[in-house]
Amino acid sequence: MPPFNEPGESAIAKFAAEKLPIDRLPDAGMPAEDVRLLITSELYLDSDPVRNLATFVTTWMEPDAERLIAENLHRNFIDHAEYPQTAEIEQRCIRILADLFNAPGETTGCRTQGSSEAIMLGALNLKWNWRKRMEAAGKDTNKPNLVFGGDVHVVWDKFCRYFDVEPRIVPLQDDKYTINAEDVASFVDENTIGVAAVVGTTFTGHADDVAGINDYLVKLKAEKGIDVPMHVDGASGAFVWPFLYPNEKWDFRLEQVRSINASGHKFGLVYPGVGWLIFREKEDLNPDLVFMENYLGKEDATFTLNFSTGSAMLLAQYYQFVRLGRKGYEAVIQLMYANAKELASRISSMGKFELIGEGAPQLPLVSFKLKEDNGYDEFDIAGQLAAERGWMVPAYTLPPNAEDVTVLRALVKESFTYGMMEKLAEDIESACATLEVKGGLHEADRKKLVKTNPAL
Ligand SMILES: Cc1ncc(COP(=O)(O)O)c(C=O)c1O
Repeated sequence: MPPFNEPGESAIAKFAAEKLPIDRLPDAGMPAEDVRLLITSELYLDSDPVRNLATFVTTWMEPDAERLIAENLHRNFIDHAEYPQTAEIEQRCIRILADLFNAPGETTGCRTQGSSEAIMLGALNLKWNWRKRMEAAGKDTNKPNLVFGGDVHVVWDKFCRYFDVEPRIVPLQDDKYTINAEDVASFVDENTIGVAAVVGTTFTGHADDVAGINDYLVKLKAEKGIDVPMHVDGASGAFVWPFLYPNEKWDFRLEQVRSINASGHKFGLVYPGVGWLIFREKEDLNPDLVFMENYLGKEDATFTLNFSTGSAMLLAQYYQFVRLGRKGYEAVIQLMYANAKELASRISSMGKFELIGEGAPQLPLVSFKLKEDNGYDEFDIAGQLAAERGWMVPAYTLPPNAEDVTVLRALVKESFTYGMMEKLAEDIESACATLEVKGGLHEADRKKLVKTNPAL
């Protein structure tokens, strides 16, 4: 517990007895240290990020990176005229990523708040380019659609609703949780602004068949003159595939892949607040989406949804690129993968669970489900693991038409050591043993839980 100043005098004593202000500014302020301690003590009520195996987002960085972040929190990224070196570092990161994703030559892109902003911008660009193509052909531009699988992150549905595009969602199946060319074919027509394919899905960590979909779209272009570009959502996978599966083609080596997003704050190994949108070639970015302004002292181009935002995470991204290099990223990602594989093998040897998509290229995670009804289900296991040891291993149902399938998923990140992996495997076994004795939750309890806890 945070220390008290003097008995009876401290702000903690005051607020412990009274309540922190929650709905209006207090009449007077209070000492800095007290405020910090009070807020910190509230955060003890939150879960511990290191035991949060639900999140894809980085939960540990080394001390020098944290120092760089702390020293640059006051730098507004958008002030390019005032901070030209920071702007130059953004460009370096874009070039490094374009090279990692095998762009054929000089290209462009932007730093974003995360993959969600990058996807909104990338998909808007698909819409703008489609409209230009249709206008040039004298065709109707009122009915744009976007094709993607049910395995996408919710941001793709958000984009369609926010920006008035018809979502054409390829349903999943009971035993197939990614999409391929055959699935996509009947959904694509000349009003399709693009196909979004995922590398490293949120649900099971696998990849859509990007190469197969690319081949289909190349053929469509050659045979029918319909040019449908692809955007690859590599929120997690774009920082994993180059290091785990360098020979798999998912990136700009494929002709129809025109833009890629990546979350720097996931397997880019940076704390929350940085993402990337990278184009295949400069010409792929529609100039109508780029605005010029001069109110920061110099004429500047802006292509973002946010304007002001911190520079610290951008600098942290560059830190990781220089600090780790290709070999370092390979080592870190391969280590995560090795721990994930060991966890998978231990879970599998318990005999109760089926691993999802074992053997296929996958993010460093374990996705698994119960083989049969044991009187308790995956939601019960998630609840029991949280209760017994504070692990956050989410259980959830897959999207339509695989909604009858419930899975558990454990992300394996840099901070998840071999020792923790061993402990988690033991704790899963122990949670199941407890549930075998006490049984699962009653339906009424489950409904109550789902209402109050969005993680369950
Ligand atoms: C496949 C995929 N796309 C997009 C996103 C959204 O990314 P961000 O949290 O960086 O906005 C996520 C987040 O988990 C994701 O898994």
